[in-house]
Amino acid sequence: MFIALSTFTIANDMAPAVKEAFQNRPGFVNNAPGFIKLQVISPTDNPQEIWLITQWNNEESYKTWHHSHMYHESHSGIPKGLKLVPRSAKIRFFEHICE
Ligand code: HEM
Repeated sequence: MFIALSTFTIANDMAPAVKEAFQNRPGFVNNAPGFIKLQVISPTDNPQEIWLITQWNNEESYKTWHHSHMYHESHSGIPKGLKLVPRSAKIRFFEHICE
């Protein structure tokens, strides 16, 4: 299994709107080949941060999705006026050890 962790920090007052957008997310990614699961979490010590954990069968599936137009469709619901803390967006990759 291959895991991508994407994190970013919201700079303005739009964190509640972003969280709502995730709850109503379009779900395109669910049909991407090799996609297993998406979890969206936000740390209690900083509710402006969003952590997106996606699990994939392998790195190839993730890369294919990330480079495809599905990625852009997946972000069609990003709330207007959203501002991120500059350079806060980061992505890291993980091997899965166990549940
Ligand atoms: C750093 C800037 C990013 C912002 C501000 C952002 C924001 C959002 C928001 C608000 C949504 C929910 C609304 C929508 O689906 O349109 C969403 C969905 C999603 N994002 Fe991001 N995102 C970012 C980067 C990433 C990255 C790098 C990944 C790759 C790991 C990613 C993966 C996803 C996935 C899988 C969904 C669900 C889409 C679906 O349901 O089809 N995002 N994102």
